Amino acid sequence: MIKKGIILSGGMGTRMSPLTKAVNKQLLPIYDKPLIYYPLSILMLAKIKNVLIIVNKGELNQYKKLLPNGKNLGMNITYKEQSSPRGLPDAFILGEKFIGKDNVALILGDNFFYGQNLSNQLLNSVKLKKGAKIILHRVSKPELYGVAKINQQKKVLTIKEKPKKFLSDLAITGLYFFDNNVIKFAKKLKPSKRGELEIVDLINKYKKNKKLSADLIGRGGAWLDSGSIEDFYKTSSFVAAIENRQGFKIACLEEISYTNGWINKIQIQKAIKFYGNCEYSKYLSKLI
Ligand code: G1P
Repeated sequence: MIKKGIILSGGMGTRMSPLTKAVNKQLLPIYDKPLIYYPLSILMLAKIKNVLIIVNKGELNQYKKLLPNGKNLGMNITYKEQSSPRGLPDAFILGEKFIGKDNVALILGDNFFYGQNLSNQLLNSVKLKKGAKIILHRVSKPELYGVAKINQQKKVLTIKEKPKKFLSDLAITGLYFFDNNVIKFAKKLKPSKRGELEIVDLINKYKKNKKLSADLIGRGGAWLDSGSIEDFYKTSSFVAAIENRQGFKIACLEEISYTNGWINKIQIQKAIKFYGNCEYSKYLSKLI
């Protein structure tokens, strides 16, 4: 069982400047909540209580105002500062102590997932004991992502980072599940031409050892990454449309925690006080 998760929440957000000049991208709003709530909610739906958030140097206090230490959610949230972005696998080097001897999930701070069967899929993925698992989703512009070619049995045949020539339309989403070898493998990686450690190189190490599996988010599910201002806008409209139509919130952390049985009504009342008079608090009041 995977009981630990890392959220990689650094990055300069250059493509979103000037919005990201003073505020980290993952703290900007996707409709009615900061972006980081969405990937955190995914780990929570996977019943992962122990979370390390990797943030840029100097930005720790901003995050702690929002997500102090996890106790309010019945969780344990710790932080690690990254002095400069060195690529996604750096998460496992920075997180070595946090991971210890356990297996671990990684989610990118700007990835948004939604879908009916998602919770079951997540609960299934955290059962991983050995090897690595990647989550794929069909996209119309695969050249923007890491891409995987698979056969009918979902065996991964090839993976490539942002291939110029068409390989497959299955993007490798920013949610990964690894066994403990990930620390050792990450340490052995060499920076790519763009000067970063590449997640695809790391996944390839598992593939070579025949220890890689893949799962697909089907047509009923959505995966959006919030790399640009346009993506932020589209993801926000998506969340607004669903929330306003159904009356349920996506990624309401306290609701997930309450449903998981991690917190009780008293903690929800404390959350209402913490957020103050706002729509989010009104929603929490309705829960209890
Ligand atoms: C990164 C990964 C890529 C993955 C994507 C998902 O890309 O390198 O393999 O498909 O995240 O969001 P980046 O966002 O750093 O361009």
